[in-house]
Amino acid sequence: METTYISAKEAATKWGISQRRVAVLCSENRISNATMVGNMWLIPKTALKPEDARLSEVNSKQIKPFIKWVGGKTQLLPEIRKFYPFSPRITKYAEPFVGGGAVLFDILGSTDLQEVYISDLNSELINSYIVIRDSVTELLGILQQKQNEYLPLDSEKRKEHFYAQRDNFNKLKHTPSEDNRIIRAALMIYLNKTCFNGLYRVNRRGDYNVPMGAYKQPLICDKENLLSLSKKLQRVKIQQANYKEVDSFADENTFVYFDPPYRPLTKTANFTSYTETDFNDAEQLELAGFIKNLSSRGCKVLASNSDPKNADKNDNFFDNAYSGLNIHRVQASRMINSKGSSRGKISELLISNY
Ligand SMILES: C[S@@+](CC[C@H](N)C(=O)[O-])C[C@H]1O[C@@H](n2cnc3c(N)ncnc32)[C@H](O)[C@@H]1O
Repeated sequence: METTYISAKEAATKWGISQRRVAVLCSENRISNATMVGNMWLIPKTALKPEDARLSEVNSKQIKPFIKWVGGKTQLLPEIRKFYPFSPRITKYAEPFVGGGAVLFDILGSTDLQEVYISDLNSELINSYIVIRDSVTELLGILQQKQNEYLPLDSEKRKEHFYAQRDNFNKLKHTPSEDNRIIRAALMIYLNKTCFNGLYRVNRRGDYNVPMGAYKQPLICDKENLLSLSKKLQRVKIQQANYKEVDSFADENTFVYFDPPYRPLTKTANFTSYTETDFNDAEQLELAGFIKNLSSRGCKVLASNSDPKNADKNDNFFDNAYSGLNIHRVQASRMINSKGSSRGKISELLISNY
């Protein structure tokens, strides 16, 4: 059968990488049967995107989020990686809805970037990132102590321990200061490791209200991972801020990944309590406008969200909001709802301007 070929440009679009990267992969012999004709690479139409050597290295380093986070992207990483647009030109990365940082840590583990900026509205989360970056030794000391206290206890005593730490966290959370920033970060991590399903959720008053979980041997003090993360975060700019603040960082050399609170698929599936405020449809639309503006300034932009078509195939909310950008539908396993019946494969949106 005769082989059909596509150009490097077409392969670049298909695989979500730069044309230059395709040329490099061809010259390194990493795309089987790619041929140079004149000064152009021809690539068999059926060729698969080669695994990125820089990314396999990450797996061996195994840095991972220090906290479980609703909407965490660990499961979706294989799909998201296909869209990393790093190239000699794209040397800066920004993630303005960083959450647990699954994508951030994947990128920090695989790519040497000139500048990285992260932000989130959640002040306790951002405090934890800053403490891991600047005061990891003190943090590890407290976490080790909490782990030594907690693990030997029986379930009744564990419960007492958990609720005492939760009360303390809520007290300190309302009186944040330079003096209590390390203990707040330690309590945040402790609670995440010992609470129900590793959730972070607050009520309207801003009180963390997740009940105790049932993990038998939670690793409260993951020393090795926290030390690696601390090293990786050294040159990262970390801000408690609204996503719009990314505006002053992003330029034509920047890849910006937006992972806002997802638009709920159904009214009952609503989870938007990462902070005291919600992220409603008006804000989704405002964000879409903001992303389009960054796109017109030459940034590489990628955004993720839920696909409303899972619940109603006629719902074109995001197709309309992001018209003019590329909308990809990818398969993901969602874990938002703790009920087994609400888990399973559904489609999610990845929206890019490249
Ligand atoms: C879907 S989560 C991000 C999850 C992350 N990608 C991960 O892998 O864990 C959305 C995040 O946006 C944050 N957030 C909500 N509204 C925001 C706003 N206006 N500006 C910045 N961050 C916001 C929430 O606190 C939450 O951490």
